[in-house]
Amino acid sequence: MAALSENMLTVNMLLSLFFLPGTLADDCGNIIPTLKIITPNNMEALSGSCLQIPCTYNTDNPTYDSSKTIYGIWMKGGVNYGTDRDKVIFDSSGSINTFSLNITGNLKEKNCTTLFPNLTTSHTDKYFFRVENGDYKASACADPLQITVKESPWRPRINISDGDLKENQSVTVTCSAFTPCPQSPPELTWNLQQDSLRQTEKNTDGTFTTKIQETITLSDTHDGYNISCSARYPVIGGIKTEMTKVTLSVSYSPRNTSASISPSALVSAGTWVELSCSSRAKPPPSFTWFRINKHGATNVSVGPVYKFNSNEEEKFYCVATNDLGQQKSSVILVDIRDDQSSVFQILNILKIMGIVLLCTSIIIFECWFRFSKKPKKEPEEPTYVNNVMVTKAS
Ligand SMILES: *[C@@H]1O[C@H](CO)[C@@H](O)[C@H](O)[C@H]1NC(C)=O
Ligand SMILES: *[C@@H]1O[C@H](CO)[C@@H](O)[C@H](O)[C@H]1NC(C)=O
Ligand SMILES: *[C@@H]1O[C@H](CO)[C@@H](O)[C@H](O)[C@H]1NC(C)=O
Ligand SMILES: *[C@@H]1O[C@H](CO)[C@@H](O)[C@H](O)[C@H]1NC(C)=O
Ligand SMILES: *[C@@H]1O[C@H](CO)[C@@H](O)[C@H](O)[C@H]1NC(C)=O
Ligand SMILES: *[C@@H]1O[C@H](CO)[C@@H](O)[C@H](O)[C@H]1NC(C)=O
Ligand SMILES: *[C@@H]1O[C@H](CO)[C@@H](O)[C@H](O)[C@H]1NC(C)=O
Ligand SMILES: *[C@@H]1O[C@H](CO)[C@@H](O)[C@H](O)[C@H]1NC(C)=O
Repeated sequence: MAALSENMLTVNMLLSLFFLPGTLADDCGNIIPTLKIITPNNMEALSGSCLQIPCTYNTDNPTYDSSKTIYGIWMKGGVNYGTDRDKVIFDSSGSINTFSLNITGNLKEKNCTTLFPNLTTSHTDKYFFRVENGDYKASACADPLQITVKESPWRPRINISDGDLKENQSVTVTCSAFTPCPQSPPELTWNLQQDSLRQTEKNTDGTFTTKIQETITLSDTHDGYNISCSARYPVIGGIKTEMTKVTLSVSYSPRNTSASISPSALVSAGTWVELSCSSRAKPPPSFTWFRINKHGATNVSVGPVYKFNSNEEEKFYCVATNDLGQQKSSVILVDIRDDQSSVFQILNILKIMGIVLLCTSIIIFECWFRFSKKPKKEPEEPTYVNNVMVTKAS
């Protein structure tokens, strides 16, 4: 009954060869494992930092007796526990500890949680766990733990609670960073509020995540805003940083809706007038033009531009509409220039000019008349004529 568990396993193994071929990992050889461990299977770590490996084990082998001393053993690269112990890197008996590991979990509670301090890329490998408890000695050969050590850290993740972002909506923005070493979690900073509380939380698989969170009320100014978050991981001899950025896309109702007129608000009757409506909205708005009359307003055109032939004084406004709301522009007055009165004005000007012309010509005539009287007097002076005549007579 108290036979070595590994011998029993060999028997089981022979049976299973016929019924369950291919279900065993290569590392088990001919042995059916009686020890199973639960870890995340694949873990990433940062060079120069630590790695906490969440781990529990279980066995239903009757030889296992938790009242006896339990030793936990870690092997690197494969399973070989016999005369040749070259793959053993840690033995909780204290005999071997190549990488300063520490099983922080309570083995009596089947908790094999292990802290791996100060990793380097050369630690990237497959690791196996083994339990030695009195006569029960077994390796979890079918449950390898793959550890990958990276030189550069992970980008933090930005998550926004609601996928459909609209103005006036409160959303919770979270920046979270993978935390393989909860003893020295990354420091998170972002361009939202600086005093956001940092929390390091345990995930369901026993790994950790560090995060900062803030609730913001969205407005149109958040549209196109870039939230950037950076994670600074403390490592031996420095800090490793990685950052991430997301651009917010916020929909909002129309604003800054305005109407303009071309060529001008004062036109001659019968000319073409073009009214243009503009607005800022997301998604882009549709436009409707209204003419104001005694009974209210009538819908006269759809679209940003309304072109018409103006014949009387009229008032218009436009309305910009999208899924989130609508906005009215201010009212535009199309005024018809009073051409009749300007004709009168021209006539008046002509009259004045006529009077001025008349007066001027009278004065000119008067002057000419007076001037032309003088030469008449000269012929009346007979002296020279008489002399000639006198000369003729003598
Ligand atoms: C192992 O971890 C335990 C609990 O965290 C601690 O009390 C102990 O000092 C550690 N041992 C070594 C050798 O670091
Ligand atoms: C295992 O021990 C660690 C302490 O090293 C503890 O944080 C963890 O909660 C324990 N796990 C379980 C499943 O009890
Ligand atoms: C961490 O590991 C590196 C490489 O193995 C070693 O040079 C360094 O001294 C270690 N640092 C600490 C604090 O253990
Ligand atoms: C973001 O957070 C929400 C709510 O907390 C969660 O439902 C969602 O799965 C998260 N998304 C990602 C990508 O983490
Ligand atoms: C946000 O980032 C993008 C590039 O990713 C850039 O084109 C844009 O100008 C940025 N927006 C702001 C408001 O800085
Ligand atoms: C748009 O409207 C807002 C008020 O809603 C105002 O503060 C802003 O100056 C306007 N922008 C322009 C370009 O008119
Ligand atoms: C305006 O009139 C057009 C065409 O008759 C119609 O399609 C549109 O829905 C109307 N818009 C409004 C706001 O009444
Ligand atoms: C957001 O709130 C403002 C001010 O209370 C309001 O004018 C606007 O219509 C609201 N927008 C939406 C989409 O509810």
